[in-house]
Amino acid sequence: MYRIAWLPGDGIGPEVCDAARMVLDAVEFPAEYVHGDIGWQFWTAEGDALPERTIQLLRSTDCAFFGAITSKPAQEAERELAPHLRGRCLSYRSPIVRMRQLLDLYVCLRPCKAFSGNPLNYREDIDLVVFRENTEGMYIGVEFPRVPESFTQERAMAAIPRDAALSLRSITRKGSERIVRAAFEYAARNHRRKVTAVHKANVLRATCGLFLEAAREVAAGYPQIEFDTANVDAMGMWLLKNPRNYDVIVTTNLFGDILSDLCAQLVGGMGFGYSGNIGDRYAVFEPTHGSAPKYAGQHKVNPLATILAAKMMLEWLGEKERAAQIEQAVAEVVARGEVRTYDMGGSASTTDMAQAVVHALRPELASKLAGELRAG
Ligand code: IPM
Ligand code: MG
Repeated sequence: MYRIAWLPGDGIGPEVCDAARMVLDAVEFPAEYVHGDIGWQFWTAEGDALPERTIQLLRSTDCAFFGAITSKPAQEAERELAPHLRGRCLSYRSPIVRMRQLLDLYVCLRPCKAFSGNPLNYREDIDLVVFRENTEGMYIGVEFPRVPESFTQERAMAAIPRDAALSLRSITRKGSERIVRAAFEYAARNHRRKVTAVHKANVLRATCGLFLEAAREVAAGYPQIEFDTANVDAMGMWLLKNPRNYDVIVTTNLFGDILSDLCAQLVGGMGFGYSGNIGDRYAVFEPTHGSAPKYAGQHKVNPLATILAAKMMLEWLGEKERAAQIEQAVAEVVARGEVRTYDMGGSASTTDMAQAVVHALRPELASKLAGELRAG
């Protein structure tokens, strides 16, 4: 029996997580799901969107499943705090970014595979996998609304206007090596032909230079896998022009954030983008999309990204067969094209879509479920 930290969050998070649970139950995944508090309501009530008790829960479970949460800009975040918490200099930091860093979940794995028959596919046969470094880069959270006085003593800083805001980017050799190695190991295990390291080393000479150097060294250990490199700007263009030329893409945190949305759009958009935040001992699985507050409670968003995140969770836990069944069922539902959510041009609800996947897995169970839903 697995113990899963279940973190639906807010906005559409709970709806898509419920949909994923229907599918997990259909494959009889043996798990205890332990609910964890996370999201905007805990920010406003407690001043912390990821309370300490939830961090403890993460430390006592096999892995976590996360829906989505709402983030708002600094001023709004302050305004929405409970009165007794205002003016205390609390600062909102994205809980998912915190979980990645706290638990050292250094791999952000984002497969982008076109399911045959999806009307949203940019092209058929796209099958990309993005490895995004998940703990450092532009996400370290070291930022200054004004240049600190101590910086101005550094000669290299003379070029920065005194009233500039600064965000620091930190790249380490260790961080670079381990994400690139993870990409190559994945490529080797999954018979992938090529790994492309994406950077901007012609401008970000120190940080991307280090990333690229580490990538080249790791690549040398995998002579059977083709290795190439690309500047991130060119990569955006090439991915649109020739998406089939790419296979496994590995890059730093912010570039991976941007490119993985682009790649998700190639295979149907955010309704199909799913992620694993994976470390050596723990992992958090999630749909890549946000909490879409304007759709919350309408039961209309596409749950396939979340269902595919559940599939990835099972793969990571070693439940390969159940994972393969889910993927196959999703492929069937998409190919048949009878049940489509609004993003796919249809009018099926979140639950309809989850039920279609359940039906593809276990037809007898789906009819029973439909009966129960009708009976209320
Ligand atoms: C993602 C998201 C997050 C990120 C946000 C919600 C902080 O865009 O997982 O890609 O920037 O990493
Ligand atoms: Mg993103």
